[in-house]
Amino acid sequence: MPNAYISGTGFYVPPRVVTNQMLADDYGIDTTHEWIVQRTGIEERRFSDPGVATSDLAAEASEAALEAAGLTKEDVDLIILATLSPDCHFPGTGVYLQRRLGMTEGKDAKFVPALDIRNQCSGFVYGLSVAASMVQAGNLKHILLVGAETHSHAMDMTTRGRNVCSLFGDGAGAVIVSATEEDRGIRGWNLGADSRFADALCQKIWTIADETCFPLDEQGRGIVEPELMWAHMNGKVVFKHAVQRMIESLMQVCMKLDAKRDDIDLFFFHQANLRINEYIAKMLGIPSEKLPHNIERFGNTTAGTIPIMLAEAERNGTLQRGMKIAMVAFGSGFTWGAAIVDW
Ligand SMILES: CC(C)(COP(=O)(O)OP(=O)(O)OC[C@H]1O[C@@H](n2cnc3c(N)ncnc32)[C@H](O)[C@@H]1OP(=O)(O)O)[C@@H](O)C(=O)NCCC(=O)NCCS
Repeated sequence: MPNAYISGTGFYVPPRVVTNQMLADDYGIDTTHEWIVQRTGIEERRFSDPGVATSDLAAEASEAALEAAGLTKEDVDLIILATLSPDCHFPGTGVYLQRRLGMTEGKDAKFVPALDIRNQCSGFVYGLSVAASMVQAGNLKHILLVGAETHSHAMDMTTRGRNVCSLFGDGAGAVIVSATEEDRGIRGWNLGADSRFADALCQKIWTIADETCFPLDEQGRGIVEPELMWAHMNGKVVFKHAVQRMIESLMQVCMKLDAKRDDIDLFFFHQANLRINEYIAKMLGIPSEKLPHNIERFGNTTAGTIPIMLAEAERNGTLQRGMKIAMVAFGSGFTWGAAIVDW
């Protein structure tokens, strides 16, 4: 059975920087830089320009990851894309990424499968488990796994939506999960979900149980009330469960793999709130130098946070071959996951 390792990483964030102060000044939101920094650690985030879709950000990150792995798009056997901000309701964004990468062009086009993952902030860890399983089963050699989000086009950018829109940013991270006979790679994971809290962080937009899924006006245009249109979050409930589930998930994967806290060189925690992560680190006795973060620059990029951090850490030399790393995520669903990788 081959091992599955990460042979390349890449990331892309759109160039437009939106500071906390700009949320107040440019969007007229009743907020302050101090309020956001104190509660979340976020100082700025990136927003895409009109016309830019999640598959566009994903494509940039994918090309960087392929280059880092020394591979070309012809080497990819499967695309897995995790997002909660898809290009459109259907088809999935994985096929748009395939098209955007030009993977259907030329006589040697392989028309590889494209799988979308819908597990919000836990999407990358869920996707990693799927990719590793497929590689370890011996079926596939190289899988392109991407976490990408374009939140800025679908948030309530008013004071009404300030508890959500001040947290999220756009960006994409990609990894190549490859087969190897070397003794390294993705060692194991722990995943979970608690549907009792499915409505604690959600964006319903349409309810398929209703006929029609939203009311129509006389011209047949859908009417979407703000309660359905925009994401809703019970921040305090999310905070409490994030702390509990991230700790549990990390401890479970460590126990399963017999990994001790001090064996782990770097902890890549999902970037939802710096305070959540600092609290967990304190509870578990993890020193701050083992806890990379970029939330202050990018906000919460949901499925993108962990692969963006991996790519940044590899490029700035923090993450090196031979290290043992842990990843932990928590998000809407609620869903959560942790994984351990020998880099
Ligand atoms: C979102 C979060 C920062 C809010 O902090 P909080 O102390 O729980 O604040 P609350 O939601 O109780 O709101 C308190 C007040 O602050 C206000 N507020 C919310 N966002 C604000 C903002 N950006 N600026 C100013 N005030 C804001 C609320 O409207 C509320 O005002 P009110 O008392 O007049 O109604 C915090 O709950 C949190 O980080 N939770 C976890 C969120 C998360 O991780 N989400 C992603 C999961 S993947």
